[in-house]
Amino acid sequence: MKHAIISLLVSGTYAFPWVADQPGVDSSLFKARRAYKRQQTGEGAGGPATCPFNANHVAAAPVTSKYPYNNAKNGLPGNGKGGFQVPATGDTAHAFVAPGPNDIRGPCPGLNAAANHNFLAHDGVTTFNELVDAQQNIYNVGYDLALVLAVLGLTTADGDPVTEKLSIGCDATTRTSVNPALTGSEPGLDGHNKFESDSSLTRNDFFTHNGDDFSFNGTLFGMMDKTCGSNFDVAGLSLYRKQRWHQSQVENSVSITRFSNLMLLVVPADPPPNARQNFYFGPLALLLYGAASFLYELMPSGTHGYAPDLATISSFFGAEKQSDGTWGFVHEKIPPNWTNRVSPYSGTDVNQQIVTMYLENPVLFGGNTAAGHFDTLNFGAIKNGTISADITSAETACLLYQLATQSVPSSLNGVLTPTVDALAFALQKLGPEYKNLGCPTALTK
Ligand code: HEM
Ligand SMILES: *[C@@H]1O[C@H](CO)[C@@H](O)[C@H](O)[C@H]1NC(C)=O
Ligand SMILES: *[C@@H]1O[C@H](CO)[C@@H](O)[C@H](O)[C@H]1NC(C)=O
Ligand SMILES: *[C@@H]1O[C@H](CO)[C@@H](O)[C@H](O)[C@H]1NC(C)=O
Repeated sequence: MKHAIISLLVSGTYAFPWVADQPGVDSSLFKARRAYKRQQTGEGAGGPATCPFNANHVAAAPVTSKYPYNNAKNGLPGNGKGGFQVPATGDTAHAFVAPGPNDIRGPCPGLNAAANHNFLAHDGVTTFNELVDAQQNIYNVGYDLALVLAVLGLTTADGDPVTEKLSIGCDATTRTSVNPALTGSEPGLDGHNKFESDSSLTRNDFFTHNGDDFSFNGTLFGMMDKTCGSNFDVAGLSLYRKQRWHQSQVENSVSITRFSNLMLLVVPADPPPNARQNFYFGPLALLLYGAASFLYELMPSGTHGYAPDLATISSFFGAEKQSDGTWGFVHEKIPPNWTNRVSPYSGTDVNQQIVTMYLENPVLFGGNTAAGHFDTLNFGAIKNGTISADITSAETACLLYQLATQSVPSSLNGVLTPTVDALAFALQKLGPEYKNLGCPTALTK
């Protein structure tokens, strides 16, 4: 068995991170090749073979003195004062342009909309600085939160800490990586059990839909709309998140054999204990609560009284109601006459929303096991699979910072260990802004 696994590696077929945790496997091999980063096959949805390629990459349209927005440039803090219209009247450089066949889009409506409006590179191959600037200039995301989200995007191994490039969707390693032979594949934001997790608001789970964890699903959007009663506030989204958890937990209890022939290569003699462990709701799923809060914190418009209403939310998700009542997809667009939030949405704000939304309808952190039950996990404020209502404000304040700077369990028996490069990158980017939080010190293995 050991030989079979190692030869897979040597032949360049990077398998799954849990392989590194199997008895008898020399996991130093994985570290050397960084193969443990890989969580999806080269084939299929989100893989490099089908990932759009744009030979003529054009960077994001920068803010100008005529149309300064928050004047956020080069990854630095901007003005942090919102309440202005985006895109500004007359600013054709940031007008909506639908993505073409060579443009990459992914699971994040906020970033897809940003790319459709050229606040990120229109081809979807973006940079750390573009991400930090765009979040401030469009949504008035606070600088601290903009940093931690951009770091998480890059270092959960979806992007490249050396080039600071990231695909907002599928695997564009040839364009993001400093050297593919050294870095292994960089799956982009489509990469599963990283930033992207099961039980998304409007995206399918990775294993139930052959790796398509990024396309808009109109059935799910309709479900969210119904649960929220077209008012996408914390109460409605908390309930919907719980419904999605249960839906995913049930739908993922199927056998792995539907998924991948790569997996079958290592299965027969000695099935890994987690072969059926498809549903996984790990610490990174905290980000799903954060993303859900964006519907009522970042998307609402001053011209709609900052209400998280259906017209606004459907525009950002690219959702369009069909004559038969179902929801189709028309690309993510900033709604007409949209004005952004007035005060910046900070890291403290989002951490509080995460805890509030979670505690209104708590679910378990952990995953399905081969034996057919659900195992819980511990990580930071998550104890025995739950966050307690008496979580301290210090623990709350550290939630996202901890995800970006510690080894995070990425399956029931695998860890998404940050490489030394990735950790150095996170600390370099976050250190100055976060040093006074008193959060647990970063660990490497
Ligand atoms: C660097 C910054 C960001 C990164 C790297 C990022 C990445 C992601 C990823 C990977 C997902 C998929 C999570 C999942 O459901 O499995 C996601 C979801 C989401 N993001 Fe972002 N995001 C960023 C900023 C934003 C901003 C500024 C907005 C605000 C409008 C936003 C809105 C959303 C929403 C609403 C979802 C949930 C979509 C759904 O589940 O259907 N994101 N994001
Ligand atoms: C949309 O989501 C539903 C619920 O999970 C699922 O049954 C359906 O297959 C999905 N549709 C597509 C086109 O993926
Ligand atoms: C946008 O604002 C303009 C000027 O106030 C107004 O004429 C127009 O109807 C508005 N459009 C929408 C879709 O609200
Ligand atoms: C977790 O559960 C175990 C077993 O039920 C118990 O011994 C332990 O004290 C619990 N830990 C916490 C932090 O609640």
